[in-house]
Amino acid sequence: MVKICCIGAGYVGGPTMAVIALKCPEIEVVVVDISEPRISGWNSDRLPIYEPGLDDVVKQCRGRNLFFSTEVHRHVGEADIVFVSVNTPTKTCGLGAGKAADLTYWESAARMIADVSRSDKKKIVVEKSTVPVKTAEAIEKILTHNSRGVKYQILSNPEFLAEGTAVRDLFSPDRVLIGGRETPEGREAVNALRNVYAHWVPEDRIIATNLWSAELSKLAANAFLAQRISSVNAVSALCEATGADVTEVAHSVGRDARIGPRFLSASVGFGGSCFQKDILNLVYICECYGLPEVAGYWREVIRINDYQKSRFVNRVVSSMFNTVAGKKIAVLGFAFKKDTGDTRETPAIDVCRGLLGDKAVVSIYDPQVTEEQVHRDLAMKQFDWDHPRHLQPLISPSDLANRVAVVHDAYEAAREAHAVCILTEWDDFRNLDYQRMFDAMHKPAFVFDGRNVVDPAKLREIGFVVYAIGKPLDNWLKDMPAVA
Ligand code: NAD
Ligand code: UDX
Repeated sequence: MVKICCIGAGYVGGPTMAVIALKCPEIEVVVVDISEPRISGWNSDRLPIYEPGLDDVVKQCRGRNLFFSTEVHRHVGEADIVFVSVNTPTKTCGLGAGKAADLTYWESAARMIADVSRSDKKKIVVEKSTVPVKTAEAIEKILTHNSRGVKYQILSNPEFLAEGTAVRDLFSPDRVLIGGRETPEGREAVNALRNVYAHWVPEDRIIATNLWSAELSKLAANAFLAQRISSVNAVSALCEATGADVTEVAHSVGRDARIGPRFLSASVGFGGSCFQKDILNLVYICECYGLPEVAGYWREVIRINDYQKSRFVNRVVSSMFNTVAGKKIAVLGFAFKKDTGDTRETPAIDVCRGLLGDKAVVSIYDPQVTEEQVHRDLAMKQFDWDHPRHLQPLISPSDLANRVAVVHDAYEAAREAHAVCILTEWDDFRNLDYQRMFDAMHKPAFVFDGRNVVDPAKLREIGFVVYAIGKPLDNWLKDMPAVA
């Protein structure tokens, strides 16, 4: 019987291992983490992450062949295949700060694997985390220099799941990528991992490459995806200036089979723990290899994303007579996308900070995000979410208490507000009773739709002044151009 251990019980480690355990009942899968609360969450009825369909998968195999544990050393020592799915955030200090990947967690996991693996058997170590290209070489050095008779093979098996659709993505991946050494031992290790996925993934969707291609493909895929969003967001600004409609433009562009229709929704900006981090990492790697032009190309994707967020804030403020001081603004949605409670790098943080910077009072509603999480996110410096020890509050506790409320429904958020900002595309926001909201708001009442979830025409009929990303502007807004 093969034993798999995964280090890191986060958004990737938890769902990925649960699906492996479900599809491979003869394999014992143990997910370990140094965080006691995370592991007890996985062992409880309320999982530590919200992901549609995940409860059901975990219930079917937890206690059968899926286990969550803090006994890191024991399970890593016993495993034949060790996945490493720890966080690889952006460095906040020292060489490469603000760009390079911080591999502290990865390196300590690798050293721990070497410390606790003591037999003369073979062990496969799988990079599941997204890492800079060539990380496998460094990990190999750590493991072989500290090996106690264990023969290691390192594989790169990056994860492509998206949050909110993780279970669906894992059940039916577009591809599974496995990079390994081009030696007999390397190929044997690739085949061992291929056999795990082959339980449910068609053979032609399992791609084997060399190690560096696999590592780089993950960074490149995220960069391409984010670039599509920055492209459509750049077009959205031009649509607003010209009277074109970004939904129509994206539809027409996406009908070209070479471009394709998906991932072309204009928005207030992309968020999430991956896109920005991985592109910054790519930029840093390009700079290190003496490729400043390539670095500059990818940096623009981030720059447009930042521009899109500040453009949105400027639009809100300029539309409301150039000041939001003391005005209540309802914020609908704080998660970085629908169907998740994850707020890492969510555009809502930048938008709320922008509004607070102009002295607004914000009232936030998100079906999956708690008050504690909102306060923590707003108080933190960029990139600090993954480095809680360096926390330096950006917004004072008194400002947070007096000017940020987190409420339990959209109507409460909008009561006596001057404006509503929609920042996450939760399905429920499409069907709210906007007439009821309008009746309870100050006039003129504004809706700023950062996700194109409402029908601007219907809301205008109610009486709202409506701004929707990349859509033809209200006359009201034309008269008050926003300076980005
Ligand atoms: P996460 O922060 O949710 O989980 C990482 C976990 O690793 C944490 O629970 C942490 O306590 C644990 N950990 C850190 N060091 C450890 C150690 N030495 N021993 C045991 N546990 C340790 O992160 P995540 O979102 O799951 O991402 C993990 C990796 O996967 C990152 O490299 C990320 O870029 C990549 N990735 C993430 C996604 C996503 O959608 N979140 C998708 C694809 C790839
Ligand atoms: C992303 C990648 O899609 C996934 O393959 C990788 O493994 C991890 O990073 P994730 O960040 O979970 O996944 O979600 P994704 O669906 O990619 O959305 C990222 C951000 O882009 C969200 O803020 C989303 O709202 C935004 N987005 C997405 C848009 O603004 N427009 C789009 O058309 C699509």
